[in-house]
Amino acid sequence: MDNKTIDTLMQHRSIRRFAERGVDDNLLAEIVDCGLRASNTGNMQLYSVIATREEPLRTELCKLHFGQCSTAPLWLTVCTDVHRYHRYCAVNGCDQPYGNLLWFLSALVDASLCAQNICVAAEARGLGFCYLGTVMYNTRQIAELLQCPEGVVPVITMAMGYPAEEGRMSERLGRDAVLHSEVYHDPSDAELVATHRVRDDDPFNRRMVEENGTRNYCEIFTTKRYPRATNEAVSADLMQVLKEKGML
Ligand SMILES: Cc1cc2nc3c(=O)[nH]c(=O)nc-3n(C[C@H](O)[C@H](O)[C@H](O)COP(=O)(O)O)c2cc1C
Repeated sequence: MDNKTIDTLMQHRSIRRFAERGVDDNLLAEIVDCGLRASNTGNMQLYSVIATREEPLRTELCKLHFGQCSTAPLWLTVCTDVHRYHRYCAVNGCDQPYGNLLWFLSALVDASLCAQNICVAAEARGLGFCYLGTVMYNTRQIAELLQCPEGVVPVITMAMGYPAEEGRMSERLGRDAVLHSEVYHDPSDAELVATHRVRDDDPFNRRMVEENGTRNYCEIFTTKRYPRATNEAVSADLMQVLKEKGML
């Protein structure tokens, strides 16, 4: 990999405020083509990418993401898509065997690899982006707004455009937490605490603990951001959507 690619990857930061300038068709085509070059299961490309730039759709979509990234001129919704392949099977007189867990997970992996390639290409061309996990909270409504047929489920969203902020370089767990040599090494509590110090001692995170009035950084996530009851309710609804959409 050339240094520029490494620099792009190592300089990544999410961008949530965008300049008015839109993303033109040529640039959109280029970054999506980079997404399409990602490896994917069986080269079946069981995903679709929906680009939303026009009003009023863009504002409606933003609302379904709880108003996040409202200045983004380009919204990319990446969907798992067995619909297109099933139609290809049908015109070839073949069985249509892909609406099940194996193929949902395969499509999800493929969609993720495609999305991340798009994002790296976008950053290399001076764009910024933020993934929006809220796609999982309003999946049914987003699918309806974007007219997704059966077999097509929105799973990843990126709000994108030219940055109007620098963004903050957030901390990461280091290699010592993540990279295991030969086999999985389950850390002792002391090792775990040591590898998470980068997170717990980060000044930005410490400020968040104060603002949230929690005992520690971890508790922001378990009690405020992603508490059990919400996780379970959203999971149950997602399971329902996947079934309704013929994905499972
Ligand atoms: C699947 C996924 C969902 C995310 N959802 C949101 C979101 O809804 N809102 C948001 O502000 N950031 C969201 N993010 C961005 C993360 O918060 C961000 O990537 C993480 O804090 C690390 O920061 P960085 O990307 O600036 O390095 C999401 C990221 C991913 C990969």
